Amino acid sequence: MPKLSTYAITCALAVAASSTAQAQEGDAARGEVVAKRCIACHTFDEGGANKVGPNLFGVMSRGIAGLEGFKYSDALVAAAEAQGQWTEAQLMDYLADPTGWTRATIDDAKARSKMTFKLADEQQRRDVIAYMTSLDN
Ligand code: HEC
Repeated sequence: MPKLSTYAITCALAVAASSTAQAQEGDAARGEVVAKRCIACHTFDEGGANKVGPNLFGVMSRGIAGLEGFKYSDALVAAAEAQGQWTEAQLMDYLADPTGWTRATIDDAKARSKMTFKLADEQQRRDVIAYMTSLDN
């Protein structure tokens, strides 16, 4: 898999991407539709409430587990110590399998994410990441 972070930044700036990137590039408008699958647990608006999961406005730049006042799992807090910021590549893996990503990241086979939802579709993950990135500016 090529460097996703480069692609996503390119997409976010709406600069023409290379032709190979174009087929798979994330689309923020499509991602907003995908995000309807997240709103049982998350809000996306600035200053929005925390639900089962944290408000996701600004999630790309505030740091992993970086929203003050939300009670994250110990596992995600440990992952934040290991990784710091979310990258597009990490979120691609996280959204597919939050517990699996967390276990691999902190090298603890018993770690559990508090996020039980998995988004299997790769294009939908790319799109919803583009949407979150578009909210981050
Ligand atoms: C069933 C509830 C639920 C659903 C549905 C859900 N999430 Fe989550 N999400 C959570 C919880 C709970 C956490 C906190 C995880 C932890 O502390 O381990 C979380 C954490 C996150 C984080 C990390 C937040 C941070 O501050 O670092 C991101 C990003 C995220 N979710 C994105 C999504 C997206 C995008 C969707 C929809 C495709 C989604 N989630 C669907 C419950 C959910």
